[in-house]
Amino acid sequence: MSDRKVAVITGSTGGIGGAIAEQLAAGGWDLVLVNRSAEKSSQQKRDLNTAHPGAKVDLVQADLMDTDQIKRAAREILAIHSSIDALYNNSGVLTSQRVMSAQGHESNYAVNTLAPYVMLECLRPALKRTAGTPKTMIVNTTSAAHSAAKSLDVDMLSDPADIGGLTGVYSTTKLALTTMGTALAPDLEQDGIMLRSVCPGAVATPMTKTSDAMPGILKFFVPLLFNKPEKQAGKMINAAKPDSFGGRTGIYITNGKEKAAPKLAVDASVQASLMKKLSVDAAL
Ligand SMILES: NC(=O)c1ccc[n+]([C@@H]2O[C@H](COP(=O)([O-])OP(=O)(O)OC[C@H]3O[C@@H](n4cnc5c(N)ncnc54)[C@H](OP(=O)(O)O)[C@@H]3O)[C@@H](O)[C@H]2O)c1
Repeated sequence: MSDRKVAVITGSTGGIGGAIAEQLAAGGWDLVLVNRSAEKSSQQKRDLNTAHPGAKVDLVQADLMDTDQIKRAAREILAIHSSIDALYNNSGVLTSQRVMSAQGHESNYAVNTLAPYVMLECLRPALKRTAGTPKTMIVNTTSAAHSAAKSLDVDMLSDPADIGGLTGVYSTTKLALTTMGTALAPDLEQDGIMLRSVCPGAVATPMTKTSDAMPGILKFFVPLLFNKPEKQAGKMINAAKPDSFGGRTGIYITNGKEKAAPKLAVDASVQASLMKKLSVDAAL
């Protein structure tokens, strides 16, 4: 059995996911890249194999809006690797358009909140570690935009009245993601699995450069003021090291620094109603 570490990255065809894949491959990791576009991910694999011939790169295709596809993707991943060291739940959607998933969930919620939950629960057997062995890590890519959400009405997540922009449903679904992280971390720890909710900071990517939900004036300044994905990916990878940040799990990190999670994310009754909804919607 290989002693190389294995990372699963969702949304690796994007700005931040692409930079994480590149840096992990350069650092000696084997990768499983989970993407909806076969064309883009095949090109990415060719590029990674050319730059890092030693890295084993496997591709799994799935539209993460669809929970059935996530479950099938997880089965494919488990057939490749019985042991996984890190899961980067990186893929994300920022849109003001109402798009509904096959299971009837609005796309910001389906991709930003529900998909990471389904993926981590399905991959849990391979992430699980026994006491005394190094812990594994789940990084849920959240956003500091979650601070814009002043409430978390879980009944509205699947079919919100208004989608809004950066501070609308997107921020609520990222608040829900951060809340899921603080709620789940103690239970995951029993299995030797750590979880951190990590915001990459402001990064110039296809999402921030082109999303219809980005305020026009902000979009104009993205190429000038936002960080490069390569720089922020390094911070994401550091946040995924079990020994960094004092070895603590369940924490929120933004732009490389630990911060207090939003109050709603540590509210026990909000956590309980969210986890109830996620377990129903995941239908595991
Ligand atoms: N950029 C920022 O300033 C910023 C700030 C805070 C948080 N974030 C978060 O960082 C993460 C990465 O974002 P990014 O800025 O790198 O954006 P990006 O370049 O648009 O990348 C997003 C990735 O998610 C994938 N994706 C979207 N919907 C999907 C679906 N239904 N199924 C499968 N994959 C899907 C995209 O695939 P395609 O290539 O097929 O579109 C792409 O690979 C996201 O979670 C985002 O919310 C970004």
